[in-house]
Amino acid sequence: MADATTEVSALLAICRRIEQVTAQIYRALAAAHCDSDLMRPVWLKTADEEMAHARQFDLLAQAHVQNRDSLAPALTVVQARAGLQRVEQVLQDFLTQPPGIEQALRQMVGMEREYLDFHSHRVVEFSDPELCRLFTALMDADRDHVETLERALSAWIRPGL
Ligand SMILES: [Fe+2]
Ligand SMILES: [Fe+2]
Repeated sequence: MADATTEVSALLAICRRIEQVTAQIYRALAAAHCDSDLMRPVWLKTADEEMAHARQFDLLAQAHVQNRDSLAPALTVVQARAGLQRVEQVLQDFLTQPPGIEQALRQMVGMEREYLDFHSHRVVEFSDPELCRLFTALMDADRDHVETLERALSAWIRPGL
């Protein structure tokens, strides 16, 4: 059986991958909605932010290698892999058949809410306050994405309001 250190490294790698795949989803939406002045910039900005989150998971992984006692797994690798498979499926679906703007917004609001829930249950527990802050910033970013996409959804459904 894998020890806690190996498991945390595997979890952080999966989380980084989830952020990367999510960035690809947002880029696919930017391409699908390239003629929308409202949505294209929103999708591209969100994609860039997901790539920044992936880099933050790199930092967490480096910190974990340097200070193995600072992190402990709070989620199983199997659960995290199931999350990764779900986002990979969404990417495939969107590439095969891109959704319209309203459907895409509703689906991504749902996905960002799931991330928020996932992160708030803490993928890993941190004893180091610096790492704790880094992780809290990632959670705040999920919250920002939910708010941004909900605003865009309102603007799309009720333009002029
Ligand atoms: Fe993210
Ligand atoms: Fe996000």
